[in-house]
Amino acid sequence: MLKQIIYSINKILNKRSVILSRPLVNHDQTLYIDPLRKMDYVRCMTLNLLANEIHDKNLDGNVAEVGVFKGEFARLLNQSFPEKILYLFDTFEGFSELDFQTANEPTKYKETAHNFKDTSIDTVLAGMKNKSNCIIKKGYFPETALGLENETFCLVSLDADLYKPIYDGLNFFYPRLTKHGYILVHDYNNKEYPGAKKAVQEFAAENKLSPIPIADGWGSVIFSK
Ligand SMILES: C[S@@+](CC[C@H](N)C(=O)[O-])C[C@H]1O[C@@H](n2cnc3c(N)ncnc32)[C@H](O)[C@@H]1O
Repeated sequence: MLKQIIYSINKILNKRSVILSRPLVNHDQTLYIDPLRKMDYVRCMTLNLLANEIHDKNLDGNVAEVGVFKGEFARLLNQSFPEKILYLFDTFEGFSELDFQTANEPTKYKETAHNFKDTSIDTVLAGMKNKSNCIIKKGYFPETALGLENETFCLVSLDADLYKPIYDGLNFFYPRLTKHGYILVHDYNNKEYPGAKKAVQEFAAENKLSPIPIADGWGSVIFSK
């Protein structure tokens, strides 16, 4: 009876892209993130599990995100790695014209409300628990990565939506990824941003890698080393 009620509620919620799901149970992981504070439970708890792996293995390297916008996911990165530097790469002015010059990138987001101009560095930093760990890299990525060639990373989030910054991000960060570290690429299975899948598939084929898809909203993939 209860199962039937939950199934029926799920069917109604599903129309609004919400699913009732069993949370992680019987785990002995440290909770860096409050799982109820964010709608995308799978994305947020996957990050929590990866953070536990990284802390358990005491991995070297810092943390980075390319595509920060208002810092929603970056806040979780900052909370999950209180002892690590968090590099935050964004134009903080929305997409760059340069990224629409590559083949097959749909231009429909260029001048729409979807172009992520409505943010600022202050907005991002205001949400950070460990502000002193944050290094803002404002400007066009990958140019803003210049000077970080000798840095290493244990976890990177690539959430720039478009083909070029994602492909460039994989080429910059994968060689600098600590052994057993992770790169999360958002939007791989999001048909609104086909450039994400193209970038991942090209990079994976060129480097003979098999990223793992996860069932978060917008369908991320994870590269590991
Ligand atoms: C989907 S938003 C990021 C969302 C964010 N991770 C969150 O948790 O809400 C994509 C961001 O990527 C940034 N971006 C896209 N291409 C970029 C590039 N080449 N250089 C710097 N920032 C870029 C945009 O300015 C935008 O803020």
